[in-house]
Amino acid sequence: MKPWKKHILFFLGISFFSGIFIWLSGIIPLTASSGHWDITKWFLSIGMKRSVETYTIGKSVPELGRPWMIQKGAGHYEIGCRQCHGAPGDKDSLFGNELTPNAPWLPSQIHKWEPDELFRIVKHGVKFTGMPAWAALQRNDEVWAMVSFLRSMPNLSGPEYEKMATILRSGFTNPDYQENAGKLPVLQSCANCHGMTGNGRETSAFPKLAGQNLKYLEHSLKAYAKDERHSGPMELMAASLKKEEVRKLSLYFSKQKRISPSPSHHLVLEGALSEAIKRGADIAHKGIPQQRVASCVACHGPHLDDRRMNPHFPNLSGQFADYIALQLKLFLKNKRGGTKYANVMHKALFEMTPQQMRDVALYYESLTLEKSDP
Ligand code: HEC
Ligand code: HEC
Ligand code: HEC
Repeated sequence: MKPWKKHILFFLGISFFSGIFIWLSGIIPLTASSGHWDITKWFLSIGMKRSVETYTIGKSVPELGRPWMIQKGAGHYEIGCRQCHGAPGDKDSLFGNELTPNAPWLPSQIHKWEPDELFRIVKHGVKFTGMPAWAALQRNDEVWAMVSFLRSMPNLSGPEYEKMATILRSGFTNPDYQENAGKLPVLQSCANCHGMTGNGRETSAFPKLAGQNLKYLEHSLKAYAKDERHSGPMELMAASLKKEEVRKLSLYFSKQKRISPSPSHHLVLEGALSEAIKRGADIAHKGIPQQRVASCVACHGPHLDDRRMNPHFPNLSGQFADYIALQLKLFLKNKRGGTKYANVMHKALFEMTPQQMRDVALYYESLTLEKSDP
């Protein structure tokens, strides 16, 4: 070997072993509190920006900004993001400032990103930082709802945000709620999204739980907790519940009176919508044999005779049409998951057009829930 080659090899060897020595000596600070060096910060932030830009090329953006999407995002922001990023009205979220890199106060950052870029950050999180990925990767629709909310956030005042993401409890004197919330503090957090009596909020962002069959509620909560039914906010909530809480919360909501049709339902009295309801009634009662869609009433009611509903099957009467249509879409794309009875529902649907889903959803929304099973 030529002498200069030996020198190079010797030099490389020394560098390698010194590197290992310094690394093992522990003098390089890897604690989050010590912060990143400026060069690392630059590297991470450019890396994140470039990666987000590259992976979003050519991605299409669905319609954003419907009021129910914004409210759905706001509810989830409250339980899943505020602790790190703060919300309108509270600029200095203490916890986020202690992360390395910091979790920025988001209202001032949103303008930097296009909707598809926000989608990617929120869905996949950011490696090497505290920014987590979405809990239910099957649910792009939920991530888009969050993007809708994030884009409206810079224009919200603190009180406007609170009103959208949480519920005003003052003046609500229902003794059943007071008693249960006293013994079961988590009920107050369910109420932020599902309403204090489980009749939902002012938009159709969150399904009605009031009057729903007890067994269906219990099994659905267990399915979310086990990741057998997929939803970002509900997996977060359900995973934190104890067995006893699942039972009590399900019992509370199943006993509440469902207010149906929804107050917003006056819209459906308009001509075109009443036609849609008639078409929907036809689908619910007769199915669509040529598309291998079974009739829905056999399992979901309304039952015109004294037959009792299977308590594991959900009651749809008076439920929000937007929610029903969304669930149908998820079933057809095989993305909903559910309890062990969900396979029955998969067998009942083979193919439905968006309009047929909308029609049958409007039909069920227009019904009043007469009685619920014990
Ligand atoms: C455990 C703390 C934590 C939680 C919870 C969290 N984030 Fe983050 N987030 C971070 C950190 C840290 C960064 C900074 C990443 C960076 O600078 O590379 C970040 C970055 C972001 C960014 C990019 C901001 C920018 O301009 O640099 C967005 C958008 C974002 N988060 C949205 C969300 C949303 C929406 C949620 C809730 C679903 C959420 N985050 C939950 C810690 C968190
Ligand atoms: C951040 C908002 C939010 C909170 C808080 C929340 N939920 Fe939900 N919940 C949702 C959304 C959104 C859905 C619809 C998810 C889906 O598409 O599967 C849902 C669905 C459900 C369902 C299934 C309903 C059905 O008809 O299949 C049950 C049961 C439920 N929630 C119970 C609860 C309980 C009990 C709590 C309190 C421990 C709670 N939720 C807290 C947003 C929330
Ligand atoms: C053979 C029985 C059966 C038939 C027929 C059936 N379903 Fe279902 N459906 C179910 C079961 C069981 C579930 C609950 C799945 C679970 O437990 O996760 C369900 C769930 C649903 C849900 C979700 C409800 C919620 O609160 O999340 C909707 C919406 C729905 N069905 C609509 C329909 C429509 C519309 C039809 C007719 C086109 C129909 N189903 C036909 C059994 C059936």
